[in-house]
Amino acid sequence: MNSSEPIAQANQPKATFTVITGSAFHLSFRQLLKTLPQDYVGTLAGIQTRYGPLVHWRVMGGLMNFAFISDPRVNRELYVRHTDALEKSPTQVQTFLYAAGRSVATEHGETWRTKRKEANSLFSRQIIEASCAGQVDVVRQFAKTLDRTPQDGLTISRKLAALTSSRGILGRAISMEEADAQIAFSQAAGARFNTESAHLFARPNWMLAPWRKNLSRRKKDAFSIVDAAIADLRSANMPNDGLMAHYVNGDFVTSSDDEMRTILVGLLLGAQDNIAAAVAWVLAYVSQDVPLQDQIRQEITATDLGANALNSCALLQATIAEILRLRPPAPANQPRILNQNVELAGHTLPKGTYVFNSFYNMHHDAQVFPDPDAFDPHRFLNTTISRSTSYAPFGHGPRNCVAQGMATQQLAATLSGLLLGHRILPQQDGLPKTLQQPFLVPASFKVVAQAI
Ligand code: HEM
Repeated sequence: MNSSEPIAQANQPKATFTVITGSAFHLSFRQLLKTLPQDYVGTLAGIQTRYGPLVHWRVMGGLMNFAFISDPRVNRELYVRHTDALEKSPTQVQTFLYAAGRSVATEHGETWRTKRKEANSLFSRQIIEASCAGQVDVVRQFAKTLDRTPQDGLTISRKLAALTSSRGILGRAISMEEADAQIAFSQAAGARFNTESAHLFARPNWMLAPWRKNLSRRKKDAFSIVDAAIADLRSANMPNDGLMAHYVNGDFVTSSDDEMRTILVGLLLGAQDNIAAAVAWVLAYVSQDVPLQDQIRQEITATDLGANALNSCALLQATIAEILRLRPPAPANQPRILNQNVELAGHTLPKGTYVFNSFYNMHHDAQVFPDPDAFDPHRFLNTTISRSTSYAPFGHGPRNCVAQGMATQQLAATLSGLLLGHRILPQQDGLPKTLQQPFLVPASFKVVAQAI
């Protein structure tokens, strides 16, 4: 066990699996599939409340098996120690995101490990830090366009996600039209994901689905943005601090321009909806707490706004961590399929088991996070808790979020860029409701950005 584990968690009784057979769940299988895309969190929370944090559901005499795991220690054991037994659905997500093209790894006959290794070096601290100051500037420019009229929180967040992600990945600012094209592509891909989730995993016949046309059209727009950025970089021979420059300069082993374009579009897509969801929750939470905004502003005003400096802003980082705890944009791991029997918590899960888990449940465990629904960034000033196995907004193990360093840097740059010149004021009492689409996003809410 991690030696920095909080005491409360270490003292928890040893978890054991509850084994359920047949249709003993409160939902029939068909109903369960129907509820998943709308309310995965609710479904997992319901299963956990009813049957506990470790559930093995055997259907049709064990022909199909599902495991629902919300115990942090068992999750960690599975995702870190049994990595070789875990498969991601190949048609849904490989190393890079499915909607940009077929999996980059399978397309080139390589394993995800080869591509993931390359991706890990792409997201090295040094490379992602280079673009941070640029992201703060992009946010500050955008914030100047917000007048004092109430603005839709999610719309602003989507734009901020597109602008900052492009700045980080392509190494240059994009226009509002390009941002809108990126958002539209992401939403079309989200529609595909939602439909597929209804069938649990990718449908082999997805090419025939009705939303295909829209997705293809939007995808073309997104590819043009990347193509233009690559062409500019090649012809202008200007310095570029974005991730893209490392591909264009040939620092990584990519097979072709085509593969490079797919990777870059995949990354822009991967950095859109979940960052937008996180930024929207940041706006929703901090707008309710103006004194906290003032404290963070004081902290960042004293820095040079580089990534290193923002990393050392304890309250800024703690606020982001607390928001990702309360509303993890991706509330669960991408489901895994076991490719061999796995012995876990003294129980055998058979080959072929579909494994689901819930960060959302883990993040609301009162033994680890006292008063779990309260927004209290100060709990993360003690960094032990962010290293605990109970905290996993970016997943566990070698297939966790490849870009978590970039994501947290981007959120820090976004919040700093907004707060440096503005106060974010709420237009409603309390927090907006939570929707799942499939990321956790706030229901419609408005904020005012008041220049200071
Ligand atoms: C707050 C923002 C983000 C959150 C909460 C988030 C969360 C996650 C989670 C939970 C996973 C699945 C982990 C698993 O199944 O074990 C994941 C995978 C992934 N994320 Fe993120 N992510 C965020 C931002 C980003 C960004 C900015 C990018 C790209 C620049 C990105 C690219 C990816 C990719 C490519 C994968 C698949 C990794 C693999 O299969 O090896 N994510 N993310």
